[in-house]
Amino acid sequence: MDSIIYIGTDDKTIDLFESQYVVPNGISYNSYVILDEKIAVMDTVDARKTEDWLANLKQALSGRKPEYLIVSHMEPDHAANIKLMTETYPDIKIVGNPKTFTMIDQFFELDLDNRKVVVKEGETLSLGSHTLQFFMAPMVHWPEVMVTYDQQEKVLFTADGFGKFGTLDIEDDWTCEARRYYFNIVGKYGVQVQAILKKTAGLDIKTICPLHGPILKDNLDYYIGKYDIWSRYEPEDEGVLIAYASIYGNTAKAAFKLKEMLEEKGVKQIALSDLTRDDMAEAVEDAFRYSHLVLMSATYDGGLFPCMEKFLHHLKTKNYQNRKVALVENGTWAPMAGKHMKALLEGIKNIEICEPVITIKSAMKDNTIAEMDEMIGGFAKELIK
Ligand code: FEO
Repeated sequence: MDSIIYIGTDDKTIDLFESQYVVPNGISYNSYVILDEKIAVMDTVDARKTEDWLANLKQALSGRKPEYLIVSHMEPDHAANIKLMTETYPDIKIVGNPKTFTMIDQFFELDLDNRKVVVKEGETLSLGSHTLQFFMAPMVHWPEVMVTYDQQEKVLFTADGFGKFGTLDIEDDWTCEARRYYFNIVGKYGVQVQAILKKTAGLDIKTICPLHGPILKDNLDYYIGKYDIWSRYEPEDEGVLIAYASIYGNTAKAAFKLKEMLEEKGVKQIALSDLTRDDMAEAVEDAFRYSHLVLMSATYDGGLFPCMEKFLHHLKTKNYQNRKVALVENGTWAPMAGKHMKALLEGIKNIEICEPVITIKSAMKDNTIAEMDEMIGGFAKELIK
């Protein structure tokens, strides 16, 4: 791997990644240089980090000039500096597929005549001793995405695939932030992720170089296994997410009580999410992670409390499916949340809704506890130890 140099950058000050995701530990924009007779640069970085990246690039090049810029993905967190590359290195050739060049024309005013290298499925490009092979990965996460296999070093450059929130200088658990990243960013495209996993399954891969998060070298079966489960929409863990939308705390009280009751029955993995205040992306992640989901919502203006509506919209958009769901509604004069949650769930594939919907009239009472107890016995019976 000495011939592959990391030239990416950490972004610790971005407020929201993709203008929507909180990233308490920042994000890395990864980019790499492959040194050979001909030098290839693997993607650029976000415009927020142009200066740092350019300095890393120049240091890695030690005065040499790159022959190729390989563009795996045109989203601006990776492609922002394509024009700058063509200005800094006027002879550089841009490597992409036909969709890449359509997008380059949309994002930039650039004359790439004589500087375009258009590659197709399975084609190779020789740098000298390194041969790069390209595999199309449409919709993982945009239509033009492709992954690149370095046949000599047995490195797979996976674009957004196997990416993770968090900068590279912090020690944190890969799975947690990679899962939040996966379901919120790539989650909709499970079928396409399965397709690229199958396409690359026969390659001898020693290292995975994603465009975000750490380079993965050891135990690659673990990471690939996670991507396989996630993209098949199978629950990763037997457990329950209780997602609640409470206005004055009464629905929240019932949610805490339900958690306590599940714990008393020996259910090991239970996550609780306050949809009004907690990170919605983490609630989405947990909904996909666990086998069971309980939705508890106050009624508002005859409909759903807005954060619950938003949550269900996110789940539907990300292709949520294959789960058991129980519903608890709250309302003081005309509880309607259950009806609305059901209607939204009906548009989602393979959802088993547990009947009956539990209705709280204003505040939890003994009958609520009895009904929740009954609900657990049916809905979560396979989790009770
Ligand atoms: Fe990291 Fe889809 O861009």
